[in-house]
Amino acid sequence: MPPSTDRVPFGIYVHVPFCAARCGYCDFNTYTPSELAGSGASPDGWLDAVRRELELARSVVGSRPVDTVFVGGGTPSLLGAERLATVLDEVRSTFGLTPGVEVTTESNPESTSPSFFEGLAASGFTRVSLGMQSAAPHVLRLLERRHTPGRAVAAAREARAAGLEHVNLDLIYSTPGETDDDLRASLDAVLAAGVDHVSAYSLIVEDGTALARRVARGEVPAPDDDVAAARYELIDDRLTAAGMPWYEVSNWAASPEAQCRHNLGYWLDGDWWGLGPGAHSHLDGARWWNVKHPARYGAMLEAGESPEAGREELTESDRATERVMLRLRLVSGLAVELLDDAGRAAAEQAAVDGLLDPVALTEGRAVLTSRGRLLADGVVHRLLAGDPTPVPA
Ligand SMILES: C[S@@+](CC[C@H](N)C(=O)[O-])C[C@H]1O[C@@H](n2cnc3c(N)ncnc32)[C@H](O)[C@@H]1O
Ligand code: SF4
Repeated sequence: MPPSTDRVPFGIYVHVPFCAARCGYCDFNTYTPSELAGSGASPDGWLDAVRRELELARSVVGSRPVDTVFVGGGTPSLLGAERLATVLDEVRSTFGLTPGVEVTTESNPESTSPSFFEGLAASGFTRVSLGMQSAAPHVLRLLERRHTPGRAVAAAREARAAGLEHVNLDLIYSTPGETDDDLRASLDAVLAAGVDHVSAYSLIVEDGTALARRVARGEVPAPDDDVAAARYELIDDRLTAAGMPWYEVSNWAASPEAQCRHNLGYWLDGDWWGLGPGAHSHLDGARWWNVKHPARYGAMLEAGESPEAGREELTESDRATERVMLRLRLVSGLAVELLDDAGRAAAEQAAVDGLLDPVALTEGRAVLTSRGRLLADGVVHRLLAGDPTPVPA
């Protein structure tokens, strides 16, 4: 559910920079055991450093109970339920948690088990997000994922059975070689798993990844934008028909309670402290980020230094731009009073062009239509540039 508007919500993000192996498409700040060999970085060293950063956060933020905790990565499930419980205990004892706190961890299907989920539920986790990506074996192979197709669905069921209230499955679509039928089978599997949240991302070929090198060598075709658009519509139609409407362009939920409150905090200008290597933080217009390497991160905290690598103060105009970019991606949309006159004229034209919902617009909100969602970045650009140029039908 969207955070209440009378109090800015406060979240804690915890970045776990470890993966068993690197998937060919991924450019996240994460390291395999061989990449860390000889660096001195380890999960226990990381946990010590996170404790130290938590103390630093408390001294900067002061007394402020936490509305949402999100442990992401990387592969948090590699830490095991005990270390994850310790992380949550530390956040609880340092800041306190608000009643009804949402506590999520990302997990990779292959490093989970019924006892792992039972441990999470017993220690206060309420939500788990599993990287399924696809049910098609050849798609998982191209993505270099290590789990078998059935494992993600089994893990989702185990999580529900263990008492975790909310379970998400992540899908990646428009992977080269994926067919419409492969995607339909993935959606059938997601729905059969009984989850209450789905995130679906079109495959991005990130610079510097093994996938980018394969595409450059011509071994793998680049994902096709038209295919991606058609696949997005397929996903949206199927999930909506199953009672899981969109609430953010890449996110669908079975009820308002199933929406990820932590991510809504990012999209609705909330405050959060990001603990861990490379983590980003935002407090009232100040944004900063940590050094990326776990060994350097640990060494700086051990030496009593802040692990901050850089910082920027957002101006009112930067914040206004970000509000348009982020709120327009939500089903709750953007209050048109946040736009200037030219932006409002552009919104009127975007409604004529079928990109914004005309009824919502008469009620003062810019809300993307399904066509608008496919062109969300372009709509944002038009509203910010005040560009009312009609789009050809
Ligand atoms: C970075 S992972 C972290 C969680 C966990 N290790 C996993 O793989 O599920 C979070 C999600 O980001 C998405 N992702 C990462 N890189 C991507 C890319 N290049 N294109 C599309 N989605 C991507 C995947 O769906 C993945 O589930
Ligand atoms: S398991 Fe997740 S974080 Fe790790 S390399 Fe793969 S996609 Fe990236």
